[in-house]
Amino acid sequence: MTKKENPKLQFNTSWEYAPAPESTDHIRLKEKYDLFIDGKFVKPAKGKYFATINPATEQVLAMVAEADTSDVDKAVKAARKAYENVWKKMPPRERGKYIYRIARMIQERAREFAVIETMDGGKPIRESRDVDVPLAANHFFYYAGWADKLEYAFPNRNPQPIGVAGQIIPWNFPLLMAAWKIAPALAAGNTVVLKPAETTPLTALKLAEIIQESGLPDGVVNIITGAGATGAAIVNHPGVDKIAFTGSTAVGKIIINAVAGTNKKTTMELGGKAANIIFEDAPIDQAVEGVINGIFFNQGHVCCAGSRLFIQENIADKVIQKLKDRLETLIIGDPLDKNTDIGAINSKEQLATINKYIKIGINEGAEIYQSSCNLPKKGFWCKPTLFINVAQSSRIVQEEIFGPVLTIQTFRTIEEVIEKANNIPYGLSAGVWTDKGSKIFNLTTKLRAGVVWANTYNKFDPVSPFGGYKESGYGREGGIHGLMPYLNL
Ligand code: NAI
Ligand code: MG
Repeated sequence: MTKKENPKLQFNTSWEYAPAPESTDHIRLKEKYDLFIDGKFVKPAKGKYFATINPATEQVLAMVAEADTSDVDKAVKAARKAYENVWKKMPPRERGKYIYRIARMIQERAREFAVIETMDGGKPIRESRDVDVPLAANHFFYYAGWADKLEYAFPNRNPQPIGVAGQIIPWNFPLLMAAWKIAPALAAGNTVVLKPAETTPLTALKLAEIIQESGLPDGVVNIITGAGATGAAIVNHPGVDKIAFTGSTAVGKIIINAVAGTNKKTTMELGGKAANIIFEDAPIDQAVEGVINGIFFNQGHVCCAGSRLFIQENIADKVIQKLKDRLETLIIGDPLDKNTDIGAINSKEQLATINKYIKIGINEGAEIYQSSCNLPKKGFWCKPTLFINVAQSSRIVQEEIFGPVLTIQTFRTIEEVIEKANNIPYGLSAGVWTDKGSKIFNLTTKLRAGVVWANTYNKFDPVSPFGGYKESGYGREGGIHGLMPYLNL
């Protein structure tokens, strides 16, 4: 039955697919999660716990420990001891074996990881299963290979580890961001204190279980949970040698100020507002699919989301109509259903932020178009949204929304689109759609973005470095470049 026949249907069924929910039978979650410090799960000093919920149902999944400054101190001391006594001294080849073992164990438990990721964060199972978890395993595999080859990566530069790395990650790719942070740090010979985001701590805690089972020496990886105050305690701890942060530009600035004048090194992977540019000679259907994937993938909770679309003027009407048609066929609803394209917004707070920007867009006079799907009653949801005829100066063009909202502008010449694409505070990524290789090369050198995809979008690989310009941050993750922030060269 389609939703037109039965408007009360909870999930959008404009395509007549039978429900195909992934089973949750094989998932084992504890009621309460403690802090993973020095190889053991330990209770937080103050005995405080907070709930993590499933944003698609608002059900509590588990209670999670809230680490305070004394817990952070314990974790940092454990990491220091493990660094000095064990990890730094271990032959690099042996370090590589542990990292490799962690990769294998993630693969073995991939289904469990994917389902928990989807339940805790709201992203479609198709994505956690096909993107997040395999890429997380691949990052460990990739960096395992570098552990005993650092001298070849950096010849004649005597690469040495830095010490204890404090790592703070966001809620949009919880396991994958943990892998991006932990794998290169360990390969380079550092030890780690990692804090996942407060809305999505569960896959990091599952990773802690794997790390414990893997036999990695105690204290090499410590995983502690909590919100901003816990993150700040890691940043301000004098025993931390390096801070790696992924999250909002606002918090990134707080961290940079906090470590100014100390010896701590930092890498910052912050916000984005990527331009996706379609030229008249592009393969249009492929481009439309890429644009849809670029912004609606993971509900637009992607720092490199293609959130600003630029269409060459003479094909604009055609492309916009195709986008509207495609919006209608996107399936929004139960993230555990294998047919779902768009899952739940990660939190009530994030939904409020997105809705605030949708109001701003309307007040700024842009034309809004939303898919006509029904949204589930419980949980946090946002219809995929287009804003047509937006001004370059409008706030919805200039500021990061981090939701399924696409602004659409047109252009006539290549110079004009370069100017407009670069005229924002961010510079993380961009996309170009054209049949002409010369246009691609021209644009990739002139767009101020860390990553430029050509005739594709949102493609990731452990081998390619990722990172931004301007307010999108500094430092690179992935590839050989991703080792550099964890080494003294
Ligand atoms: P956030 O920057 O507050 O959170 C990211 C991480 O930083 C979390 O683990 C959080 O607990 C921690 N944190 C918060 N305050 C801290 C502090 N003072 N010191 C140390 N750590 C701290 O991001 P939030 O509030 O969850 O999202 C707000 C906006 O940030 C989003 O709307 C989006 O625009 C952007 N964002 C960007 C991400 C990216 O991948 N670049 C990821 C998540 C959010
Ligand atoms: Mg959650």
